[in-house]
Amino acid sequence: MKKGLVKALAVCGAAIMATAALTACGNQASNKLIMGTNAAFPPFEYTTTNGLVGEFDGIDVAIAKKIAEADGKELQINDMEFDGLISAVSTGKIDMAVAGMTVTDERKQNVDFSDTYYVAAQVMVVAADNEDIKSAEDIKKGKKVGVVIGYTGDSLVTEMGVDDNNITRANRGIDIVQDVKNGKLDAVVIDSATGKALAEANGLKVVEDPKAFETEEYAIAVKKGNKELVDKINKVLAEMKKSGEIEKLAVKYNSETAAK
Ligand code: ARG
Repeated sequence: MKKGLVKALAVCGAAIMATAALTACGNQASNKLIMGTNAAFPPFEYTTTNGLVGEFDGIDVAIAKKIAEADGKELQINDMEFDGLISAVSTGKIDMAVAGMTVTDERKQNVDFSDTYYVAAQVMVVAADNEDIKSAEDIKKGKKVGVVIGYTGDSLVTEMGVDDNNITRANRGIDIVQDVKNGKLDAVVIDSATGKALAEANGLKVVEDPKAFETEEYAIAVKKGNKELVDKINKVLAEMKKSGEIEKLAVKYNSETAAK
């Protein structure tokens, strides 16, 4: 961090005569690492009155904070629609997307991913007294299924063969589980940790089907070719994995978000 700062100061100092360069140094001095996310995904990112970074808290926020610190930068969080994250990364609007984002071949065409840091799978969130959804097969039998737009669960239910007329797409998992609660939907298909958090917070239950829902791995997305940032991120992730910190964060935030 210090080295980089000294270098930046030296470059700015040398350029002090050139007005044009001054502007460039001004921008550089903002010294922020911009994380894009969609903060409706507990325990990875959610908003709260007293968050770790402003109103934001969660496993990803804690990881991103470490990355920014290691880089000698201040973490800025831009909360946006999940569906817009990939293009925000590739156009450089944000430096990285830290959003419980599953690595997929399709996404890899537009962004580069860091090493993975969490293993998840899709689950079905159903009413506590639901007796007819026991496996993924069961949601194909005319059940009303909710997903979140652009999430891996969205493409999965489509590929599985759930009739599109029976699929409801929403912007946030937090909102769509309400439709399970009020009986408009039979199941919401969403990532495991988030599904559990939302189920517990709303008196619903989770049905798993590891045979039908393969594991997914989360990683941080950066602009294609931004090796410098990926290397920095991977270094922090490796340290956090080795020290058991990621595991600790998962335990901490899983229980905190479930309690809400
Ligand atoms: N893992 C899923 C995906 O990559 C859902 C991620 C949603 N993340 C969020 N921050 N809202 O599609």
